[in-house]
Amino acid sequence: MIGPQSEALWRRAQEAIAGGVNSPARSFRPMGGDAPVFVQSAQGGHLVDVDGRSYIEFLAAFGPNIIGHGHPQVLDALERQMRQGLLFGTPCPGEVEFAERLCAAIPEMEQVRLVSSGTEAVMSAIRLARAATGRRLVVKFDGNYHGHADTVLVRTGSGAATAGGGGDSGGVPDGVRQDVRSLPYNDLAALEELVAREGGEIAAVLIEPISGNMGVVTPQPGYLEGVSRLAHGCGALVIDDEVILGFRLRYGIIGPQIGLSPDIVCLGKAIGGGLALGAYGARRELMRLIAPLGPMFQAGTLAGNPFSVAAGLASLDILAAPDVYETLDRRGAELADGVLAAGLRHGLRISLRRVGSMFTLFFRDPPPRNYAEAKEHDAPRFRRFFWEMLQRGIYLAPSPYEAWFVTLGHTGEDIAEAVAAAAEAFAALAASDAQPKDA
Ligand SMILES: Cc1ncc(COP(=O)(O)O)c(C=O)c1O
Repeated sequence: MIGPQSEALWRRAQEAIAGGVNSPARSFRPMGGDAPVFVQSAQGGHLVDVDGRSYIEFLAAFGPNIIGHGHPQVLDALERQMRQGLLFGTPCPGEVEFAERLCAAIPEMEQVRLVSSGTEAVMSAIRLARAATGRRLVVKFDGNYHGHADTVLVRTGSGAATAGGGGDSGGVPDGVRQDVRSLPYNDLAALEELVAREGGEIAAVLIEPISGNMGVVTPQPGYLEGVSRLAHGCGALVIDDEVILGFRLRYGIIGPQIGLSPDIVCLGKAIGGGLALGAYGARRELMRLIAPLGPMFQAGTLAGNPFSVAAGLASLDILAAPDVYETLDRRGAELADGVLAAGLRHGLRISLRRVGSMFTLFFRDPPPRNYAEAKEHDAPRFRRFFWEMLQRGIYLAPSPYEAWFVTLGHTGEDIAEAVAAAAEAFAALAASDAQPKDA
């Protein structure tokens, strides 16, 4: 199933790159595989691998790709910028315009700082919260993923859940762990109890308002309002991690629409049009604490570089057009409904949770409300489904904890083809169930 060119690259990659991959979530090891697919090129909703095989993909680079690969507006913007220069190490006009656009779309962000990744955005937001409150504790939620800074690698989701230490990373000093509390998501009583005990020391409550890293898990009614109330009640700041959600579900952020009252907002992925671009922002009085005006240091050689912001601006232009999010929602619904119906027709124990253009198909029913429940799924069956889909030219994330992402690059035919492939994959799963075990 993995072509000879991918196999050959895999042998070289294992020699030269730690574990053969530059990010563990790309590895096929959790799927029981060896060589992953090496991709040569991409267009629209398709990837083409080094062996010339084409895949309809719902990986979307783990979220950033929302407009489809090779969009001419992004390519034109990059070409123009390329001729003017890639990196100056000075302020540049594009970063000002990009920052203005983010602030205009997100009232909670009176000012922003541009960075180069979601990890940097969250890491800096935590530092800002600690600088603002003079407190040490960070509260996060099990199964949320916030990048790979030390503070947030405690009971984390996404790639760290399947490929690295089961969500707890080695190399994180005890001193750092002691300053983190990780609680079950969707459990207000747990937060209430913590606040009663240690509220005076909490700098920040950090949350993905809709989790995309233990599969798509949505907040229960009143949960985000409760999180905000408890955090603010004890003088802590709310950090809204919308690295996946921001500009994915609407033009702007989703947290405040569903009950969260953020003090600091983190962005990444979709805002960069596929280039390295993240951001964090807050009201002016908080942002004034950042150097060179204030005592909190945060910097970056590549931060707000002209090439990334050119791609970011072109992406925001595309996303600001009328009906974009309606289109994404409709295509997301077509795919999700089609896949779920196909699986249920075969009597499989599955469920699905979708928000707009992202969803997770769970090999359990009902869908999970938290990380403990998300971990209770039929892992062998997910693995089998992953391979059945790959064999039929559908590339999914190699993990049960990721989302399927639909992009503007997917056509109606792509969706129909993926649903048909899922129906065949489910049929193969059901057929293997029907075989006598001692045959
Ligand atoms: C919610 C969330 N926050 C932060 C990050 C880290 O972003 P990056 O991988 O760009 O460092 C991720 C990455 O998956 C994420 O999903």
